[in-house]
Amino acid sequence: MSHTPMTVLVVGATGSIGRLVVAESIARGHTTRALVRDAAKARRQLPAEAQLVVADVTRPETLPPAVADVDALVLTLGSDGSGHASPEAVDYAGVRNILTVLDGRTPRVALMTAIGVTSRSSVYDHLLDWKRRSERIVRAGGLSYTIVRPGWFDMNGPDEQRLVFLQGDERRSGTPDDGVISRAQIAQVLVQALTAPEAEGKTFELVAEAGPEPGDMGPLFAALAPDAPGALDAARDEANMPLGKEPQRVRDDLDAVRARAHA
Ligand SMILES: NC(=O)c1ccc[n+]([C@@H]2O[C@H](COP(=O)([O-])OP(=O)(O)OC[C@H]3O[C@@H](n4cnc5c(N)ncnc54)[C@H](OP(=O)(O)O)[C@@H]3O)[C@@H](O)[C@H]2O)c1
Repeated sequence: MSHTPMTVLVVGATGSIGRLVVAESIARGHTTRALVRDAAKARRQLPAEAQLVVADVTRPETLPPAVADVDALVLTLGSDGSGHASPEAVDYAGVRNILTVLDGRTPRVALMTAIGVTSRSSVYDHLLDWKRRSERIVRAGGLSYTIVRPGWFDMNGPDEQRLVFLQGDERRSGTPDDGVISRAQIAQVLVQALTAPEAEGKTFELVAEAGPEPGDMGPLFAALAPDAPGALDAARDEANMPLGKEPQRVRDDLDAVRARAHA
């Protein structure tokens, strides 16, 4: 193994992507901790090697044990659309709350959002806007990060394994025409990004096209443009979410994470 094993916390670990991230992280030799809301359910879903920490990202007081001594975070959490918790509370504030309890630790971060996240589409209670705000708070937080915006899950054909990393988020039909990708490959990309220096400070859309899977993701990460230092949006993103028009609470959060990053 060419990388140093780390302690990796997976947030969203019982989800359709998170479960695969946990397995991939274990397979790559990392000590792997799962933040879960229901330990009994998680024990049934996750490999025995996974450490479980019971917490809820909407309740910051539950989070410190989950982040204790972590070297890396993989964030694949998502609101379930049931109306019990909003995209603001989970997809955005959940990420903010995790960053807020780090207490000086500086883990490597891999955040999953979605292709089309910059489209300003109002579907799903402005889910994509809240996911974009989660990206922004990660960029503002001063940690080393990679942000992965996958296309449509598991809608690829068996011959579509060739990874394609895109930037500019220009595919905005809101349908699988924007790109497809297997859940397994999303998990591989998220976990491999944690130990790839070429992936640091980069944001990209992730899809798969006809062809075999790559042996080494390093050249794909290396070919990406890095996000500009201090920028809220990714390299080549459309500037269509002006900070001055953002909710005051979001601007306050950005100020707070920036202040913490420079403390
Ligand atoms: N479907 C697609 O083609 C597609 C494409 C691109 C991006 N996406 C994005 O991918 C995300 C879905 O990923 P997925 O399929 O892995 O999601 P999922 O199966 O719905 O899993 C969501 C995870 O978040 C956790 N979670 C939710 N609220 C939480 C809270 N308050 N505290 C702690 N954990 C919490 C869930 O825990 P519990 O098990 O306890 O509920 C679960 O582990 C969505 O946000 C979607 O926008 C989807």
